[in-house]
Amino acid sequence: MVKINLKGKDLITTRDWEVEEILQVLELAEEMQEKRFSPEFTCVLQNKSFLMFFYNPSVRTRQSFEIAATELGGHALFLEPKTMRLKSKKTAGETIEDAAKVMDRYGCGLGIRILEDKISTYGEGEKIIREYARHCDIPVVSMAHDKYHPCQGLADIMGYRRHLGSDLKNKTILHTWGHGALARSHCSVQESMLICSRLGMNVRLAHPEGYSLDEEVIGEVKKNCSETGSKFTITDDPVNAYKGADVVYSRNWMSEQAYAGEELNKEKEVEKALKLTDWICDEKKMEITDNALFSHPMPVDRGHEVTDGVASGSRSIIYDIAENRLHVQKAVMALTMSD
Ligand code: CP
Repeated sequence: MVKINLKGKDLITTRDWEVEEILQVLELAEEMQEKRFSPEFTCVLQNKSFLMFFYNPSVRTRQSFEIAATELGGHALFLEPKTMRLKSKKTAGETIEDAAKVMDRYGCGLGIRILEDKISTYGEGEKIIREYARHCDIPVVSMAHDKYHPCQGLADIMGYRRHLGSDLKNKTILHTWGHGALARSHCSVQESMLICSRLGMNVRLAHPEGYSLDEEVIGEVKKNCSETGSKFTITDDPVNAYKGADVVYSRNWMSEQAYAGEELNKEKEVEKALKLTDWICDEKKMEITDNALFSHPMPVDRGHEVTDGVASGSRSIIYDIAENRLHVQKAVMALTMSD
């Protein structure tokens, strides 16, 4: 395959990248997994620093980016709003433009995470990331925001390619809502649906009334499926949705009313979600799949989104996918941030 030059390219969602560019990342990530500490890769970011700006906490994203920078011969800095003096709706301080233009002079890349409770309307997180990107020449990478989680989507696909083969055309993935105590953003599930549909998978979405995803994303997934000749379906049936699936992706996400009061009402969201107890991925439902893999971006809300038996069962690939975060991020960093 002809190598595409990705130097300097932002990764805010895989939607912004061509399928060939996504495949290039996946192939390099697979090679990097196989030859993890090969000298071919250990100096790729030598003397360079990756800036990681976290508005929200993380287990996987922080650790995998920090280790990715180390394994590529570089360094990663952990930053939080409380360690800076940024202007916000409630506080005086530095503008995004000034902060971004300064960070641009220091780092080889900037990662930003901004999720549900740090914004007051859906889409605000994406606006903030794109504003940083507008003022930075270095690549800006979303480390998860309210709409998308590109590195998670790439890691998911790397897992499916490993377990189902690199041609995912006509494999069926079910994205099903799970009742839970976390009122999560739409980012992981939306990114997954977008990337799976672009790679020719049949995409099935199951959720109870009141939990629709972003209309624009749904429209795009429909269009992708029609272009690749695959199927897209939406159902509110928490059982039949599982029939014949090759991959089951169970995840809680917040309702359409989550920002109705101009800030996330987490308690109300959780209270509402916990009542919908039919919406759990369990062994019985998995029996009607085509021996499906169980996929989840983690952290898993065990006992709500999924039973322990499925999450820790023989078809669960959650830890492989978590590991893949490291490899795909190394590939993205090498392709977009190295000289
Ligand atoms: N999947 C994921 O992004 O995990 P963390 O929130 O722990 O980073």
